[in-house]
Parts: sequence; structure tokens; C-alpha cells
Amino acid sequence: MGTRRDFLKTSVWATAGLSVLPSSVISGLGHKMPSDTLTIAGIGIGGKGHPNLVGMHTERIIGLCDVDDKYAAHCFKEFPQAKRYKDWRRMFDELGKEIDGVMVATPDHTHAIIAATALTMDKHVYCQKPLTHSIYESRLLTRLAAKHKKVATQMGNQGNSGDGVRQLCEWIWNGEIGEVKEVHAWTDRPLWPQGLERPKEKVKVPSTLDWDLFIGPAAFRPYHPAYTPWNWRGWWDFGTGAFGDMACHVLDPIYQALKLGYPDKIQGTSSQINVESPPQSEKVEFHFPRRDNLPKVSLPEVSVCWYDGGLLPNRPDSILDGIDLMKDGLGGCLFIGSKDSLLCDCGGFNPRLLSGRTPDVAQTLRRIPGATGYHDGYHEQDWIRACKESPANRVETSGNFAYAGPFNEMVLLGVLAIRLQSLNKILQWDGEHMRFTNISPTDELKVITENEFNIIDGHPHSDVRYATFNAQEAVAEYIKRTYREGWSLPPMP
Ligand SMILES: NC(=O)c1ccc[n+]([C@@H]2O[C@H](COP(=O)([O-])OP(=O)(O)OC[C@H]3O[C@@H](n4cnc5c(N)ncnc54)[C@H](O)[C@@H]3O)[C@@H](O)[C@H]2O)c1
Repeated sequence: MGTRRDFLKTSVWATAGLSVLPSSVISGLGHKMPSDTLTIAGIGIGGKGHPNLVGMHTERIIGLCDVDDKYAAHCFKEFPQAKRYKDWRRMFDELGKEIDGVMVATPDHTHAIIAATALTMDKHVYCQKPLTHSIYESRLLTRLAAKHKKVATQMGNQGNSGDGVRQLCEWIWNGEIGEVKEVHAWTDRPLWPQGLERPKEKVKVPSTLDWDLFIGPAAFRPYHPAYTPWNWRGWWDFGTGAFGDMACHVLDPIYQALKLGYPDKIQGTSSQINVESPPQSEKVEFHFPRRDNLPKVSLPEVSVCWYDGGLLPNRPDSILDGIDLMKDGLGGCLFIGSKDSLLCDCGGFNPRLLSGRTPDVAQTLRRIPGATGYHDGYHEQDWIRACKESPANRVETSGNFAYAGPFNEMVLLGVLAIRLQSLNKILQWDGEHMRFTNISPTDELKVITENEFNIIDGHPHSDVRYATFNAQEAVAEYIKRTYREGWSLPPMP
């Protein structure tokens, strides 16, 4: 990941940050001059939110909100002029009229409610990946962004602004590897603990943390340091495991290049899974029906296979012995084509054909100057550019919600396939209506609640306890979560 110094050194935008320009909205046109500054509020600023805001340093950061004073202290310090908040609703009430755009980098379970509220207030939104925690929430953000036409949006998978993904799209669309019927994608994550059972010991909430606001719309549970910061990823109520964490980076080139849309079938398997926490390693296979042919290549039905937690695809003959598929330390993907195969790193960077050939293909896609590596700053600045353009003539960001919303639904469907594996069937998905078509009213999910292994008197004892749920009810809840009392989403447009 790039540091602030890297970004300042290399960014074409850096010089703009040296001059302080008035934030004068051109009345009547509803947009700003590129030289004007936006006013931005950041929510969830102790982790990734900090480099995201640094990547927006050309603008005025006027509000900062975090539930954890201690963890976010470095970011509060970096932007001393910004007003500080613990509750984003209060910040929106007090600064709402002054804010142009909102940066959301809270844990996954609060992305949707914050982003949706901002969209209904006609605020531009930069929201971290995965865009949301549930499929319904993704659909909602997609539709709200379409309805509030003034806003510019961007999901925070920064590789999406990179050169690599553009180059590999151009190669594939030019027919350089032929028809693709099989793709494999992987990451070495999780780096954090998963497969956990809910902690039982009582721990006092630190005075610097507002635990109730951290929980937000999720079901209340007592505080424990195993949840925040960072490790919320390993708990279903707050995160989406390794798949949700990395797939928005790793699958992005596949979703774009193959113009995927909704899958129609999906299946998942994993290491041991329980009711609380995603498993240590997962394998998910999506099936996509044929899409409309492109001028130079057809898009036949395709299977996309995902691996995490150290699992990798079998090596095809064409990958030479000794090639490390995890070289970039994040993940990558392999497109198997009828004429050649294409390997790339996480986010589409460093695409190369396994034949060793370098295709000579004209650049047709818009490039973002400098976005050649996996650095922060360029993706944020492209959003800022779009925010300032007139909505009528705006060049949308490549990760705008019309793209990112449906893509995120694919990612969350992968998470669902893992949670539904005890149904022991290939799940059939009706994307348009957000429902599985082959789960019957009597199907049951059987999931581990506790698993205790002990050696007693020299003998191994495994005590595994399970809970059973009506599958249709559980699925309905996974697709559209019930929010805690006092928290609600705006209606679906
Ligand atoms: N694009 C990337 O490369 C990348 C990298 C890391 C994380 N992320 C994403 O960024 C988001 C945050 O991840 P992280 O690693 O920074 O987590 P983190 O736990 O390190 O930081 C989250 C911050 O949000 C704060 N927070 C939690 N709930 C809040 C609320 N309701 N209101 C205000 N603040 C709240 C926490 O106190 C913390 O400061 C996630 O969606 C994650 O997937 C993206």
C-alpha cells in the first residue's frame, strides 16, 4: 500500500493542494470548478479511513467522526481544523448543509446506513469495500445513487482505478485470449482470526469507545476487544470474512472484463463454520450464463472459482513450476481462454499472458494518470474530479455505484454460499428478485454453535453442538438484515 509520502511525490494532483482556493459553487450549474475545493466529512477514520482522507488532502476536511477516540487520535490530529464527532447522525444534522461529500470507512455493517443517508441528502459518497454487508443494502445504494443524480459515487477498491484492469479488459475484448469459460481467483487472507466462538468473559468498555454506536444497526452484544478495531471482519454480524474483505479487489477485473452481471448458480465449501464467525478457508464456485457477444469475442457461460485462507487452484500445465501465485501478498486471478491464458495480481495489476506474448492493443479506456500501482490517492482523486463535474456531463468514476452495487451483490452472494453450505445443494439464484429458487419451505440449515475438543484421561473428546434454522427464514435475514430498534434504512426507490 502506498504511504502519504508516495502519493504526494507521485500524484499529478499534488500541486493543486498547495494553493488554497475558495469553495465557490457556481450557482445554477450545481457543480464546482476543478480549482474549487470540496468540503468532506470522514466517518470511520482510525484505519483505512485515514489514508483515504489523506488521498483527499486537496479538499477541505471539515468533519471527522469516529466512535473510538483513542484509535482515531492520529487522524483527528492530522486534520485539526475538522469538527469532531462520535455519532455520524449528529454530524449530518450539524454540518449537513456545509458538506459536499462523505467518506465512509467504518466496518462493513454500517456502510449502508451511513451511505444511504448521505445519498438521500444529495451528498457525494466514497464508500469502502465491500460496499455493503447485505445484498439488499447493495441494491438500495445502487438505486439511491441512480435516483439522486447530482451525486458522484465510488466504492473504495482502489485497484479499480488502476492501469492493469484497463489493459486486461482491452486485451480480452480484443480477443487476445479467445473465449473464457473458466476463471480462478484467490487471496491468502484472512490475516486476522476467524472461525471464532463468541467470547464469554465480561470486559469493561474502554472510556474512549462508544460501544453502542459501534454496534449501530446490528443486534446488541456485550463489548469485547475481539471485535474492534480491525477484527470485526471475523464476525458475521459486523464483517464478511476473507471473501467479503478481498473479493472486491480480486474479482473486480473478472467482473469488468467478462461483463458478468448476476450469476445463476453458486456453491461453497469451507473449513469448519459456525454461527458467529466466518471460516478460516473457503472455496466458492459461481456459474454465469452466456452474456451478449462483444464485437471481437463472445462471452460464453463461465465458471468463476474463488479460493482463500491459503487454498489455491490446481496449477494448469501452462503455469511454469516455481511461479508464486501469491507473489504480491494479496491475491490474483487466472483467466483460462481458448487461445491463451491471462494471469494478474490483486486488483488486475501486472496482467501477463501465459504464452509470454505482449499483445499490441490500442488503449480505449480512460486512464487515470499515475494509477499504475496499488496506491491510495488516485481512486479518491478520481471521485473528487467526478464530484466537481456537472452531473449532466460528468464522466462517472469507474467504481460508481451503478457498477459497484451489482458487483458487490456478486461478492455477497459468495459469502452467502459459504453460510448456506449445509443445504448440500448447488444454489440457484434469481438475481433480479434477490432470491434462491431451490430452497424449499422445509429445508433446514444446520450450523455449529460450539465445538470443544479435549483430551480426557488420555482420550480425545470432541463435543460439537449445532443449531438448526429454517433455511428460507435464515436466507431472508441474510439477504435483508433486520436492523436494531432505532436504526433504519431509507425506503428502496
Ligand atoms: N481498500 C482497501 O485497501 C481497504 C483496506 C483496509 C480496509 N478497507 C475497508 O475499510 C473499512 C474499515 O476497515 P479498517 O481496516 O479501517 O477497520 P478498522 O477497525 O481499523 O477502522 C474502522 C474505524 O471505524 C470506526 N468506527 C466503527 N464504527 C463506527 C461508526 N458507527 N461510526 C464512526 N466510526 C466508526 C472505528 O472506531 C475505527 O476507527 C472496511 O470496510 C474495510 O473493508 C479497505
